Amino acid sequence: MAPHSIMSSRTFFVGGNWKMNGDKKSLGDLITTLNTASLHDETEVVCGAPTVYLDFARSNLDARIGVAAQNCYKVAKGAFTGEISPAMIKDCGVEWVILGHSERRHVFGESDELIGQKVAHALESDLGVIACIGEKLEEREAGTTEEVVYAQTQAIADNVKDWSKVVLAYEPVWAIGTGKTASPEQAQEVHEKLREWIRANVSEAVADSVRIIYGGSVTGANCKELGSQNDVDGFLVGGASLKPEFVDIINARA
Ligand code: PGA
Repeated sequence: MAPHSIMSSRTFFVGGNWKMNGDKKSLGDLITTLNTASLHDETEVVCGAPTVYLDFARSNLDARIGVAAQNCYKVAKGAFTGEISPAMIKDCGVEWVILGHSERRHVFGESDELIGQKVAHALESDLGVIACIGEKLEEREAGTTEEVVYAQTQAIADNVKDWSKVVLAYEPVWAIGTGKTASPEQAQEVHEKLREWIRANVSEAVADSVRIIYGGSVTGANCKELGSQNDVDGFLVGGASLKPEFVDIINARA
């Protein structure tokens, strides 16, 4: 697999989301572990680094491992104190950005509309986008999971012209950082419905080719069963991506 390539077929995709964790010492150790590990060569791996460590991560990670920013703004430059643009991310040699993560939505109040605008600009800037969607516990309990994830996906889809650069991450909010993983059946059910939604609302070809990855308390212990589901094309991993266990998750399909 070519380094840094953004795959358009359903190559298994494992993203790590380091969130606001680590320092040069601990991330450097993790990077050494990843660089020296034996990684399944049919799995695409991307690490989401904190903004200040994007350059550090890209400079130190082996070229076979991609790097993602965890957020970016919707325009190229200007008076937007504290924000970063896709152009800056690309300037650091970084190929991906995570957008619409539930922490951006629910801690920082990002709307579907803003996330859509960010997706459009990131894609125009030639970044790959890991676009996140997912329902809250009360929404699942109220039986509105499908309605919620379809609406979030619509706001993203409205802004995508080239789906080969998009990975869709289904991350039920109740499973993120809680140790409560969706069961393989629960994950498969939503992934399958999302793929059918894409078939009906985008195209047959995109439904067949887009990677839909699962996130929410993925671990070395549960990754094989989750990853064996038909419509689960990989993972977005938070807590466990900071541990050597991340290697086992990358190798879930090995
Ligand atoms: P978690 O986070 O693996 O710690 O649950 C997943 C995510 O937020 O992407």
